[in-house]
Amino acid sequence: MNDRDATPARPRVYLETYGCQINVADSQTVSAVLRRAGYVSADAAEDADVVLLNTCAIREHAEEKVLHRLRELARLKQSRPDVKLGLLGCMAQHNRVAIMEKAAFLDVVAGPDSYRRLPEMLARAGDDASIDVRLDRAETYADITPDYGGGVRAYVTAMRGCDKFCAFCVVPYVRGRERSIPPSDLMREIGELAGRGVKEVVLLGQTVNAYRFGDTGFSALLKMVASIGGIERIRFMSPHPGDVSDSLIEAMATEPKVQPHLHLPIQSGSDRVLAAMERGYTVADYLALVARVRAAIPGVALSTDIIVGFHGEEDSDFEATTTVMRAVGYDSAFMFKYSVREHTRAFRLGDSVSEEEKGRRLTALIALQEEMSIARNRAMVGREFPVLVEGPARRGGGMMAGKTPHFKTAIFAVVERVAAGDTVNVRVDSATGHSLMCSLA
Ligand code: 5AD
Ligand code: SF4
Repeated sequence: MNDRDATPARPRVYLETYGCQINVADSQTVSAVLRRAGYVSADAAEDADVVLLNTCAIREHAEEKVLHRLRELARLKQSRPDVKLGLLGCMAQHNRVAIMEKAAFLDVVAGPDSYRRLPEMLARAGDDASIDVRLDRAETYADITPDYGGGVRAYVTAMRGCDKFCAFCVVPYVRGRERSIPPSDLMREIGELAGRGVKEVVLLGQTVNAYRFGDTGFSALLKMVASIGGIERIRFMSPHPGDVSDSLIEAMATEPKVQPHLHLPIQSGSDRVLAAMERGYTVADYLALVARVRAAIPGVALSTDIIVGFHGEEDSDFEATTTVMRAVGYDSAFMFKYSVREHTRAFRLGDSVSEEEKGRRLTALIALQEEMSIARNRAMVGREFPVLVEGPARRGGGMMAGKTPHFKTAIFAVVERVAAGDTVNVRVDSATGHSLMCSLA
């Protein structure tokens, strides 16, 4: 009998991720924790012994998607009662009681700070569900190297949690207080990634520019990461406008590896709504910041997040948002209908804008942004940019794709051998709102 036969079959786990990049990164941590405990990954729920959903609670729609998937998995569990089902992440934390009532067949419910204990929780799960939704002010998973998915770009969590408590947002309640990962752990992890061929690092955090560990603030962290050989590009997601310091702008302006793209969530262009949202800045503050950033980093790309239909948002407030959008001229924007979230400060205010009106405002905003994205991208026609090649373009046809420094998708035909991880110079021939058609320069 060889060794292989002597080893009991390892449990297979299938992990499905919903929501933001932080959740994607968290799933890589979960995967590393379970792999250390002897699990191997399965390609589909049907092939797995354990099925885990890493969930998002930011809007009701995100939760509905997961509840729908849970109903499907309930059928799987009926046919294979030995399968263990687990709900992880923000939704597990947010609404544990309701979720347990709706989905009595769950074996494990684990919040974002409980992943280290997952192997024991799974081992314990039997007749009763194993539930752990304690938030832990100290948990950063700093010592666990996540299972990266490969590719030229890696997303690395630099800080967890959020202390801002914007009135609409559930994040501080489901992810707890701000905690930064020690720079030494980040340097080790990113160094390892560089050794594995990663060229671009995206530092992640709910308010990533609030990063602070001892004396190391966010701009110092950017400079440290820039010193790592092999890492060619650095980005970060998502900063908060209130924490954009002069030293961060200076680091972006002077450190060539830090790419000229800043995501600056504005949420609304009305001072009245911003105050109700408790965002901590006015439109004038925000526009002054945009002016400072543009003066220091010429040609910087700006993107944003906007919520339409927050409680109390009148037509005039919405108009103010479109005015600010035109004034800034964002390269891209993520736009959302306001979704009332239990536990948040705005919960008790209610929901004054009808679903139809939110829909109308969102459609109008998306159309406006599309127009501006096209204009911003067309302004790039004729210019040359270095593109970090990611691989074949989704549209196929022998085309390759990568990102420009401004984080725009560049698509180009290759005449010579070009591989993922190479940086090539391209000239922009034409543009849509979503990509730049280029040729090698
Ligand atoms: N409803 C709609 N959008 C929200 N966001 C956060 N909370 C809500 C909510 N309750 C949006 C914000 C944030 C982005 C990540 O999600 O725009 O910046
Ligand atoms: Fe939510 Fe505001 Fe924190 Fe962003 S800064 S995660 S919107 S509370």
